[in-house]
Amino acid sequence: MSKVLVTGAAGMLGTDLLAVLAASPSFTVTAATRADLDLTSPAAVRAAVPGHDLVINAAAWTAVDAAETAEEEATAVNGAAVASLASACAASGARLIHVSTDYVLDGVASSPYPEDAVPAPINAYGRSKLAGERAVLSLLPTAGYVVRTAWLYGEHGRCFPATMLRLAASRETVDVVDDQRGQPTWSLALARQLVALAAAPDAPAGIYHGTASGETTWFGFARAVFALNGLDPDRVRPTTSAKFVLPAPRPSYSVLGHARWASAGLSPLPDWHDSLTTAVAAGALKPR
Ligand SMILES: NC(=O)c1ccc[n+]([C@@H]2O[C@H](COP(=O)([O-])OP(=O)(O)OC[C@H]3O[C@@H](n4cnc5c(N)ncnc54)[C@H](OP(=O)(O)O)[C@@H]3O)[C@@H](O)[C@H]2O)c1
Repeated sequence: MSKVLVTGAAGMLGTDLLAVLAASPSFTVTAATRADLDLTSPAAVRAAVPGHDLVINAAAWTAVDAAETAEEEATAVNGAAVASLASACAASGARLIHVSTDYVLDGVASSPYPEDAVPAPINAYGRSKLAGERAVLSLLPTAGYVVRTAWLYGEHGRCFPATMLRLAASRETVDVVDDQRGQPTWSLALARQLVALAAAPDAPAGIYHGTASGETTWFGFARAVFALNGLDPDRVRPTTSAKFVLPAPRPSYSVLGHARWASAGLSPLPDWHDSLTTAVAAGALKPR
């Protein structure tokens, strides 16, 4: 029986992680919300980690646009706090699975980024998350796992499909950008993958890409959300990023390659459309 500490346990991914871990007889779980364990307190982190074989860090500063004007605060959570978590894991011999993001990459490629692509973030959130990745990889060279995800949606948080369904209830048409490509990833599918990684003690440390297989644009994602919910997908209209300027620049190509899962004896996550179909059928996506 492996003892697991889940940080960020009340977040969208953290909530799904707890459900997946609870269904497995192989783990006993300590769930730490921000109220239980503020990761920016090194003393609290040092006290919380001992006694666990594994830490899964689902906590993060996730306000991408706010990070542009609060990079120091974002880095305190996504960089410095991750370093203290990694140090505490190193001191107590625990493995660490840390969740990161496609935003550490520059997003200008035209074929999927391999796990060893050179990071080059284009916004403050990406820089803050890269600081966390580097801390994990340097402090835990044989016991640190960085799992990058992207375009995450799920039952327990604000997310794109829920927003589309809310807008569909109040507008006839919705304009959605069609010039950013990525991999819509169901948080429950990612949670299952992280638990599979946790159960693979011989998996080599390092970077893995925890995004769905396949790829689409936000426009394609929105059309699928409409269609799977019995709404006319033609109510979604394509637009461009130039018409939707946000404080933080967004990568135009966020498609990640999945080759490294094979080294852990695992398959990549399922196809994005298959997972979306399952999530809708399970009633996981309501207007929010
Ligand atoms: N959502 C996406 O599209 C996306 C894309 C790429 C990567 N990711 C990564 O995926 C992971 C999970 O994201 P998510 O969407 O599940 O995020 P989320 O719903 O925002 O959950 C993050 C959790 O971290 C907690 N937290 C924030 N600061 C903390 C601190 N100082 N100490 C302890 N906990 C703290 C938050 O608590 P409060 O709510 O109380 O602040 C929240 O419960 C993150 O690493 C994120 O960077 C997400």
